[in-house]
Amino acid sequence: MRVTATTDLAASTAADTIAVGLLADERIHHDTDDGALGALVAAGEAKAARGHLAVTHAGGRRWILVGLGARATLDDEVLRVAAAKVQGRARELGTRTLCWELPHKLADTLHPARAVVEGTLLAAYRFTAYKSKGQEDEGEDDDTTGGVAELIVSDHDDRTAAVSRAAVVAEAVNAARDLQNTPPNHLTPTALGRRGQAIAAAHDTVTCEVRGRAGIDELGMGAFSAVAQGSDEEPALIVARYEPPSPVGPVLGYVGKGITFDSGGLAIKPAGSMVEMKYDMSGGAAVLEALDAIAALRLPVRIVAVVGASENLLGGSAMKPGDVVTAASGTTIQLDNPDAEGRLVLADCLHHAVGLGAERLIDVATLTGAILGTLGKVYSGYWADDDAWAAQLETAAAEAGEPVWRLPLHERFAEVMKGRTADLTNLPPARTGGSSAAAAFLNTFTGGVPWAHLDIAGTAWDTGRPYFDKGGSGVMVRTLVALAERVAAEG
Ligand code: BES
Ligand code: MN
Ligand code: ZN
Repeated sequence: MRVTATTDLAASTAADTIAVGLLADERIHHDTDDGALGALVAAGEAKAARGHLAVTHAGGRRWILVGLGARATLDDEVLRVAAAKVQGRARELGTRTLCWELPHKLADTLHPARAVVEGTLLAAYRFTAYKSKGQEDEGEDDDTTGGVAELIVSDHDDRTAAVSRAAVVAEAVNAARDLQNTPPNHLTPTALGRRGQAIAAAHDTVTCEVRGRAGIDELGMGAFSAVAQGSDEEPALIVARYEPPSPVGPVLGYVGKGITFDSGGLAIKPAGSMVEMKYDMSGGAAVLEALDAIAALRLPVRIVAVVGASENLLGGSAMKPGDVVTAASGTTIQLDNPDAEGRLVLADCLHHAVGLGAERLIDVATLTGAILGTLGKVYSGYWADDDAWAAQLETAAAEAGEPVWRLPLHERFAEVMKGRTADLTNLPPARTGGSSAAAAFLNTFTGGVPWAHLDIAGTAWDTGRPYFDKGGSGVMVRTLVALAERVAAEG
């Protein structure tokens, strides 16, 4: 979708459809000459109730009025949802060029242009790569126009920068969703590595190196290797670096779990829990696509991204409960449950990121089913061993509109992860506090570098937000970009 900003009135653009937000008890600022919009409100057909839609024709074009609720409770998320609703209706109506007239005089804390662009682009996303021609829209509507092709954001102030930034980020979220949604026989670890290399090829500031099984073993990554050995599919250690011309601030280490399919290994998952385990690479996808957006935005901050990609299967060489392996850090780990594979891969990737010079760490992983029970699909859980770094993450996530909730690191979580035969176990016998115990395990491998861990097992998939179709949500792309922006701005 082409996305632009204009300071012209919406009515002077070439859009075939204009979207206007309605705030409770406020008049319409730019009505048509014949007062058609005001009349629609007076008739009770258009309402300020959040998400309420009304459509009319006036001045040779179509108008969609969308309720935004009261000004006092308006935030970016309300606008994102409103934009998604408008996009849906516009698509049904065969709109090609949509112009959004932003509400006037909003508080500085809001990002209305960003929210409208994100809501529109995220809602317009469909994953049809594996549908035959003509089957793409099955069950949706009989729109044959291909949906909204152009979005124009109209405001009295020039929103060009905000609009182009938001388009870059929303496209990156959609790219992460493509990776999540791609079937696991197509999105192999090698294919994820190729995506890293394609990102590098697109920016002269990005390099990407991919190592296979032999390369992983060479680095002494016994934990990562243990996961990969159960599958015939070549694993991939993907290292992408973004080095802008005049960087400021600490080197950020972005680490992602890239399990392209998690069967549970010899602790095989029941069929119902295995069915969508292709999205166990969502953290890796978020890290790579965030890097692509950060490079496109030319943010002056260095990033080293490390993604551990592998399948977790149960081939003849698969890890067995009771096996002991040595991680790259030298720590020994007793493999008590082959389904607790993410922490094994991340242990070696976190250690590697520190070795590559990361001065702040953040890892993103669909790590535990337990987080779904705790925070549902509303919040991503996070843990951090440094309050200043936690505060930066928290602010970035809030600004990005991706809810996160901090959970505790406690010595006793670390204690339960101690092994009987080896230094650590990957899964203690008691399954209490599973998400926090996993976090404590990861913290063993961060070498004292300020670290945060995001568990996105709940928020990565089928979130039910109105701007997300079923499937991948690309969660944390927006937060990782916002975090890099914060670090860049602080210098
Ligand atoms: N990939 C799963 C976690 C997961 C579960 C992601 C549900 C998305 C939805 C992870 O590797 C896993 O299997 N975790 C186990 C941990 C257990 C063995 C300690 C789990 O959550 O059951
Ligand atoms: Mn697992
Ligand atoms: Zn997993």
